[in-house]
Amino acid sequence: MSDVKKYIEAHKDRFINELIELLKIPSVSADSAFNQDVLNTADAVKESLEKAGCDFVEICETPGYPIVYAEKIIAKNLPTILVYGHYDVQPADPLHLWDSPAFEPIIKKTDIHPEGAIFARGACDDKGQMYMHVKAMEYMTATGNLPCNVKFMIEGEEEVGSESLGWFVKQNQEKLANDVILISDTGMIANDIPSITTGLRGLSYVEVEVTGPNRDLHSGLYGGAVANPINILTQMIASLHDENNHITIPGFYDKVEELSRTERDEMGKAPFSQEAYNKALDIEEEHGEKGYTTNERNSIRPTLDVNGIWGGYTGEGAKTVIASKAYAKISMRLVPNQDWHEITDLFVKHFESIAPKSVTVKVTPHHGGQGYVTPIDNIAYQAASKAYEATFGKTPIPQRSGGSIPIVSLFEDELKSKTILMGFGLDSDAIHSPNEHFGIFNYLKGIETIPYFYKYFTELSK
Ligand code: BES
Ligand code: MN
Ligand code: MN
Repeated sequence: MSDVKKYIEAHKDRFINELIELLKIPSVSADSAFNQDVLNTADAVKESLEKAGCDFVEICETPGYPIVYAEKIIAKNLPTILVYGHYDVQPADPLHLWDSPAFEPIIKKTDIHPEGAIFARGACDDKGQMYMHVKAMEYMTATGNLPCNVKFMIEGEEEVGSESLGWFVKQNQEKLANDVILISDTGMIANDIPSITTGLRGLSYVEVEVTGPNRDLHSGLYGGAVANPINILTQMIASLHDENNHITIPGFYDKVEELSRTERDEMGKAPFSQEAYNKALDIEEEHGEKGYTTNERNSIRPTLDVNGIWGGYTGEGAKTVIASKAYAKISMRLVPNQDWHEITDLFVKHFESIAPKSVTVKVTPHHGGQGYVTPIDNIAYQAASKAYEATFGKTPIPQRSGGSIPIVSLFEDELKSKTILMGFGLDSDAIHSPNEHFGIFNYLKGIETIPYFYKYFTELSK
């Protein structure tokens, strides 16, 4: 057995219990009711990094939630790895859909996780994955196996747009100087099919408000004679896709990078079963842009989705009313070369232009970010690939993800370094959903694989 495996074997119960304690703190960044819990989580992360052997740990105040920064610098001439993660989590609601309370972690076995999985909000996204790095650090410092310098930057606003982190990075370029950024906040194909995430989509998030008459009206007295903002909004939204599920906003696809047939064929080699996919979601048939496969639709193609829609009467029973206003939250996932500011502008212009005169519309942009593609012809990717080979016994498959971590492209712009995305979650782990969980196998495998990345990256840097 390797040293790291032995260490994990000896300490795994404690590793699991420590993560469970961290998961009990409801660090929901989106909801100010949890303000103190988010701050307490930052303190807990700080303490864990101290115990893991970092020489210097601090809580960095920002206009929003603090950033936990830590480092251990062993020699100037050695490479420096910057680990990024987030300690905030998504809101847990709808609470009634959880089989056990979101902030009372429990371990349960599932078909996919026969060794058990920890069920709690943040188990996979991202406390569990972030904490793998803390425990890998503990192993390396406790056993004299840390081969290079390391810096940690753990933020508390990822799930709400990382605004303070952008501010922090711009101000601290020197402090954050590094040779590679390492993040575990994505997934892999399956526990026996390791993969490395080589792309993230960008994002533009907007909210729209459609106003009809100046007050709610009796739907009998006025119905048929004035625009119903809910009818109009749903028509406008429906028109944003054509019959081939292409997005109809003029200019939307102008900068989309079209992959070559060879690149798409290469992507198509990743193991995937449409049947299993549909079955896992209880859907008769998949849906998406004509001419693309499921894996292309959710990674190399941009999308537009309504995330929420409301207005009018939604209480018990019936109320005959034409509402004055209707609302929707809309997100667009973007691919490399699409600029999120440009896409937001195109959306605003188009949405205003398709509104009939009978209503007024207001579009409010929320946050957004650029997409990212990791090069695979560099030593960082090679080191990651060798690390998975060492612990999974298989070469990992490079795979683009559909999710977004907008701050990654800012890291590249401001810190001039590349990011390696070593994610150990599974798509079925229900991140952002009720019953989020993280496999014990995945958690421990992550802790085991990370030190190999340090080792190979340091060796290949020579
Ligand atoms: N960790 C996720 C992103 C992710 C998950 C990427 C799985 C790839 C695979 C991250 O916490 C997240 O949820 N990001 C948000 C964007 C953010 C601006 C709120 C997202 O993708 O919706
Ligand atoms: Mn995350
Ligand atoms: Mn998330």
